[in-house]
Amino acid sequence: MERVATGIDGFDRLIDGGLPKGRTFLVTGGCGTGKTLFSLEYIFNGAKEYSEPGVFVTIDATPKTIREDALAIGMDIKKLEEKGLVKIIDASVARIGIPSQEEYAMPVTGFDLDKLLLETMRATKKIGAKRVVIDSTPALGLTFQNSEDVRKAVLKINYVLSQSGATSMIISEIAEGSKALSKYGVEEYVVDGVIVLHYLEAGAGANRLLHVRKMRATKHSEDLHPLEITDSGIKIYKIEEFRKKR
Ligand SMILES: Nc1ncnc2c1ncn2[C@@H]1O[C@H](COP(=O)(O)OP(=O)(O)OP(=O)(O)O)[C@@H](O)[C@H]1O
Ligand SMILES: [Mg+2]
Repeated sequence: MERVATGIDGFDRLIDGGLPKGRTFLVTGGCGTGKTLFSLEYIFNGAKEYSEPGVFVTIDATPKTIREDALAIGMDIKKLEEKGLVKIIDASVARIGIPSQEEYAMPVTGFDLDKLLLETMRATKKIGAKRVVIDSTPALGLTFQNSEDVRKAVLKINYVLSQSGATSMIISEIAEGSKALSKYGVEEYVVDGVIVLHYLEAGAGANRLLHVRKMRATKHSEDLHPLEITDSGIKIYKIEEFRKKR
């Protein structure tokens, strides 16, 4: 099985060297746990370290915010965009009916999943993207009559991403107190792997933790791993390393 290194410090060793190539993974967790930065660093490292162009679809936040947030942890996304190695697709403002100034964006009228996927594939082909991120499925605001329709929509996202040949991440979220791993409760079943980010309120020694909840075709760590967001990116520790460091 070919592996795709995320390049995120300390992470690839937890999943046998990297993500299984060509598959789709879910990054999920509560608010502010680092889901966006984690997936953004995956795209950033791909373009910068591994010559693998990447497409980042942002629905929650504007591209401007994304670039600023990335820069705050040492990732100059703009530079990679200028080199044609990264494309950010702006689905943020169309969602609320305002036209975007970005090169790749959704039309204001009739925002829907099919258009979003078409635009994603257009950008993916254009730069030969090997990595794609969709941030996030809850932001799509899927409102269907029944759970079967939502499942179909998520399956469609998964199918289109896998057809592109890219190794992809979709982002979802865990509501406070919820037992489901995602907004719709189907994302985790459809994807090939699930990475859960936790935030502990107090007293546990590590505030942020990462857990590989599932990873098909992979021998993976089943521990909770301290995660740090630093000025130079994200770092994932083994518990004993983290204890020593403190
Ligand atoms: N430069 C930095 N240094 C340390 N921590 C930072 C830095 N920049 C951001 N953070 C932390 O990262 C968090 C935001 O991360 P991110 O946007 O990836 O979370 P998220 O899970 O996508 O959140 P949301 O649910 O709002 O989409 C901030 O709340 C902050 O705690
Ligand atoms: Mg986010």
